[in-house]
Amino acid sequence: MDNDNRIVTTMERNEDLENENNLRPKWLSEYIGQEKVKNQLDIYIKAAKQRHEPLDHTLLYGPPGLGKTTLANIIGNEMGVNVKITSGPAIERQGDLASILTNLSEGDVLFIDEIHRLNRSIEEILYPAMEDFAIDIIIGKGPTARSVRLDLPKFTLIGATTRAGLLTSPLRDRFGVILNLELYGIDDLIKIVNRSAGILNVQIDKSGSTEIGRRSRGTPRIANRLLKRVRDYAQVLENGYINSQISNDALNLMEIDDLGLDRTDRKILLTMIESFPNRPVGLDTLAVTTGEDKNTLEDVYEPYLIRIGFINRTQRGRLVTKKAYDHLGLFYSQDEENEQIEFKVGE
Ligand SMILES: Nc1ncnc2c1ncn2[C@@H]1O[C@H](COP(=O)(O)OP(=O)(O)OP(=O)(O)O)[C@@H](O)[C@H]1O
Ligand SMILES: [Mg+2]
Repeated sequence: MDNDNRIVTTMERNEDLENENNLRPKWLSEYIGQEKVKNQLDIYIKAAKQRHEPLDHTLLYGPPGLGKTTLANIIGNEMGVNVKITSGPAIERQGDLASILTNLSEGDVLFIDEIHRLNRSIEEILYPAMEDFAIDIIIGKGPTARSVRLDLPKFTLIGATTRAGLLTSPLRDRFGVILNLELYGIDDLIKIVNRSAGILNVQIDKSGSTEIGRRSRGTPRIANRLLKRVRDYAQVLENGYINSQISNDALNLMEIDDLGLDRTDRKILLTMIESFPNRPVGLDTLAVTTGEDKNTLEDVYEPYLIRIGFINRTQRGRLVTKKAYDHLGLFYSQDEENEQIEFKVGE
């Protein structure tokens, strides 16, 4: 199935943009969870403001839908500066980036989403821009061409990427602050559902928000999306009030199981079990066998399956665990267990 068509895709869908502005926390105090990230940012922001300097360049990394764009906007608000938003693939020529940089005002935040997709020659413009707040541009052509250094206002670059490892090391090294967003725990997801329900004026009880939170794959974007769809169900088929029974019925109708897995997740697990019984499988092979894109497997499906302990990453590839067999109602033989222990390595 096309990943973008799944109700539980972590990728942004058009329906997520409905009420997006209202649902997005604007201040650090409204941002739920990610305590380690929040505590660090709070200190760095306060320190930068006391010194009347922009915040150090900041790299945010973590799976889609966890709140990287949200945090970049929050940083702008907290610092009291403008946020200019662009993305790696949108910047096609060196001149595009030069013009963005020279149009910044003192202290501004420049947010580059999917920064790992910046073209290498464009990336090189960023090195002096980040380090010395300057860019070198070439004036003229041929033998008379000369390089001129242009000063830039002091700004903060915020880069977002799904995996820090996708960045080249010269770029990664130029970020003073590197923050990792992790999948959210159930308590935070329940808070996010309740907060969003309040904003959307939807009545929901604790059992309803627990049910939605539990099936949201640790991802606020999915929590908000499921809430909207359960709201529709409650509005049309019930009296509009969401409890666990209604959430359960609505989510079952969407074929999302009680751990938030959908048909594609089950297909991936079953393919691994059927085609590679007792054997670890490499990502490339898995991509070919399941017909899913390799990067999508790694960025979108795998983090949650690993988080809930259904897949182990081993030196020789990915292995399905007993927990996943149990969830799918399949028999798990002891031999497979031995294999997994033998090859299991830390993340
Ligand atoms: N900590 C949070 N508290 C409350 N809501 C949140 C939080 N983080 C994210 N959200 C909600 O989840 C939605 C998705 O977040 P956001 O767009 O910032 O994710 P992202 O990490 O930038 O995703 P992508 O990698 O796809 O760009 C936001 O619209 C926001 O409403
Ligand atoms: Mg984003």
